Amino acid sequence: MSAEAILEVRGLSKSFAGLRVMNDVSLQVRKGEVVFLVGPSGAGKSTVMRCMNFLEIPDEGEVLFHGGPVNRSEQGLNDYRARVGMVFQHFNLFPHLTILDNITLAPLKRGMMSREEAEQKAHALLRRIGLEDKAQAYPAQLSGGQKQRVAIVRALAMNPEVLLFDEPTSALDPEMVEEVQSLMASLAGDGMTMIVVSHDIGFACELAGRIVFLEKGRVIEVDTPEELQNSSNERVRDFLACRQ
Ligand SMILES: Nc1ncnc2c1ncn2[C@@H]1O[C@H](COP(=O)(O)OP(=O)(O)OP(=O)(O)O)[C@@H](O)[C@H]1O
Ligand SMILES: [Mg+2]
Repeated sequence: MSAEAILEVRGLSKSFAGLRVMNDVSLQVRKGEVVFLVGPSGAGKSTVMRCMNFLEIPDEGEVLFHGGPVNRSEQGLNDYRARVGMVFQHFNLFPHLTILDNITLAPLKRGMMSREEAEQKAHALLRRIGLEDKAQAYPAQLSGGQKQRVAIVRALAMNPEVLLFDEPTSALDPEMVEEVQSLMASLAGDGMTMIVVSHDIGFACELAGRIVFLEKGRVIEVDTPEELQNSSNERVRDFLACRQ
């Protein structure tokens, strides 16, 4: 618990139409940690995660990266999002671009590497997920699981320090969940810092170093999967018990 947080949220609150959906949420994530956010539908998990990526601006509280505030200018946010990548439930690949161009677009746009380097890196990433033969295909020609794995390596192409995932497998057919989860497990094994919103409690218990249980916009408990499964709070225990 001594290492400094790489990403921290402090006292986040937010209301929509007068209804408070996030209430004084604080959380620290250290380098190399895998933290899952779980809790009932409407608990505010996505809102917390969207605040971490500045897709949502909290009414109160702050997001700190390496201990400091994030510059919210357009350039500042682009820099931040290159270092803190996000993977969405519905992949968000660009439909009119090939898989290769989807992966190289952001590194090229940001001038991070030459086209040759970006393409080399993209091919290496596609090889890693066994989709090298899809480089010239379009997203519509891929299965859901393939699209999500491409979306994950697209985020990796920026060499991010943190990856945020909001329900990365919940739009997938059951037989494709495994291939995405095993890619995520392999990233965790490489030491990637990951924050994951998921309804898949079994997966959370397998992969998470810590689980944050949210309910009605509040953090109810944060602990290791083992500790939460034996929580003194019955709500938490019951929720963690209903695996899958
Ligand atoms: N842009 C918005 N406008 C109005 N209400 C919103 C908006 N975004 C979220 N909410 C509300 O805030 C609450 C929390 O939503 P959020 O999406 O963060 O929950 P969640 O825990 O991610 O739920 P789920 O598990 O269903 O994805 C919900 O009641 C939701 O309806
Ligand atoms: Mg959500």
